Amino acid sequence: MSPTKRPGILRMSPPTPQPKGNPVSAIRPAAVVVLAAGEGTRMKSATPKVLHEICGRSLVGHVLAAARELEPENLVVVVGHAREKVTAHLAEIDPAVRTAVQAEQNGTGHAVRIALESLGGSVDGTVVVVCGDTPLLSGETLRQLAATHSADSNAVTVLTAEVPDATGYGRIVRDGATGAVTEIVEHKDASDEQRAIREINSGVFAFDGQLLFDSLKKVRTDNSQGEEYLTDVLGILREAGHRVGASVAADHREIAGINNRVQLSEARRILNDRLLTSAMLAGVTVIDPATTWIDVTVTFEQDAVVHPGTQLHGSTHLGEGAEVGPNSRLTDTRVDAGARVDNTVAVSAYVGPQAKVGPYAYLRPGTSLGAKGKIGTYVETKNAAIGEGTKIPHLSYVGDATIGEYTNIGAASVFVNYDGQEKHHTTVGSHCRTGSDNMFVAPVTVGDGSYTAAGSVITKDVPPGSLAVARGQQRNIEGWVARKRPGSAAAKAAEAASRQVESED
Ligand code: UD1
Ligand code: MG
Repeated sequence: MSPTKRPGILRMSPPTPQPKGNPVSAIRPAAVVVLAAGEGTRMKSATPKVLHEICGRSLVGHVLAAARELEPENLVVVVGHAREKVTAHLAEIDPAVRTAVQAEQNGTGHAVRIALESLGGSVDGTVVVVCGDTPLLSGETLRQLAATHSADSNAVTVLTAEVPDATGYGRIVRDGATGAVTEIVEHKDASDEQRAIREINSGVFAFDGQLLFDSLKKVRTDNSQGEEYLTDVLGILREAGHRVGASVAADHREIAGINNRVQLSEARRILNDRLLTSAMLAGVTVIDPATTWIDVTVTFEQDAVVHPGTQLHGSTHLGEGAEVGPNSRLTDTRVDAGARVDNTVAVSAYVGPQAKVGPYAYLRPGTSLGAKGKIGTYVETKNAAIGEGTKIPHLSYVGDATIGEYTNIGAASVFVNYDGQEKHHTTVGSHCRTGSDNMFVAPVTVGDGSYTAAGSVITKDVPPGSLAVARGQQRNIEGWVARKRPGSAAAKAAEAASRQVESED
């Protein structure tokens, strides 16, 4: 690989490049309205539907991320069912979002009317309407819709798709001669002939804001659900002589709405595949995409390798040539170039370049492992700054600690940080060799270049360069077994051993 080809950090979900000739400014909508007032009964959940998550983001969070790519002047989310929870979530993920309350769900037309009223009624410019439960909708598709809408000077442009099974969707009715869209008929209100149509309404539209507001006043409720249908606006505009257009989505899966947990898992699989595909095309090896799960916020550098059974969450980043897995779960963790992390759970941790972690390690928040360091097998760490080249190879707990460079911590050591009420800190210097089975009772400091004896309970500071021994002296009571356990297997073995020694003498 030539050095000029070296990438920087490869973002998993870059803002899609602008199509040529359609700068955002030309298609920038006055408002995007996100419909999210419905209950989502079929999710059978205490959590409102739009707050369910796939790939590290709520359903409505994905929709907002796509909507943000249009750089709308206003972004309004219509909330209704469980609106306290939904509003609190929106304030957290996108504080600039406005909310409009639809107390009773009287239909999609009613919902959009309430959104426009919250913006002062008639809006000058384009209004894009999307549903809060279509997490696979991309910013690129929205941009194309807005571009078609403005290029064709339409009053309304509907995003449609050809689907294998149109059951439940509104059907796009076109003029037999011209192919122009004439109306949208809801499944429940459609004739058998209309139900045979496979082109459906995605629920995503671009409208002229003023015409939309005027038309919504004319929408009636004489349909099978007794609701104000947003879709009726198309027929109203067409009858008034305005241009009605359609933009057909390239991939019908993009517009799929989530109504139940089966669809939720299907959408998660599709999005995960999309993320892994873009990572692989950017130079990441994913051994088994079927068992690898990542969030939209995960980033990689070239030649990172992900082994089977691995989940990467949040702001996790794998550096150049870093290898993670199998069977690892990393959250908000940075693994630097050339490091190796095997069978590990890590949360808010840092693994330095060329360092090794696992198998079977648990890195808790605040763990930082220096370059070429090692956190080995059955080791748990928390709030621990571990220096370059330092090793903690086996069966240990290191909590609330600072360890210098090129130190070796013996097997089965515990940094005793908790006195039952408070946590205390331990400092171990550089180039130390601590014995196996040590307890470092915090607060305590072990100076640079010190050694500690195996089995020591270190309660006092160790000056640099010392050997600390903190354990009982060994005492051998000879003949104890013969006296106290006569005739036992142990006594017989001891007797045989002493006969052996005598015969050798
Ligand atoms: C709607 C469309 C249908 C389209 C389908 C695509 C209408 C009348 N029908 O049908 O043509 O094929 O979406 O998925 O628009 N909502 C509110 N307030 C309401 C009603 C709905 O905010 O009063 C929200 C829902 O939370 C949901 C969205 O609007 O996010 C769509 O509503 P839903 O009831 O699912 O409409 P569908 O029957 O699926
Ligand atoms: Mg629906």
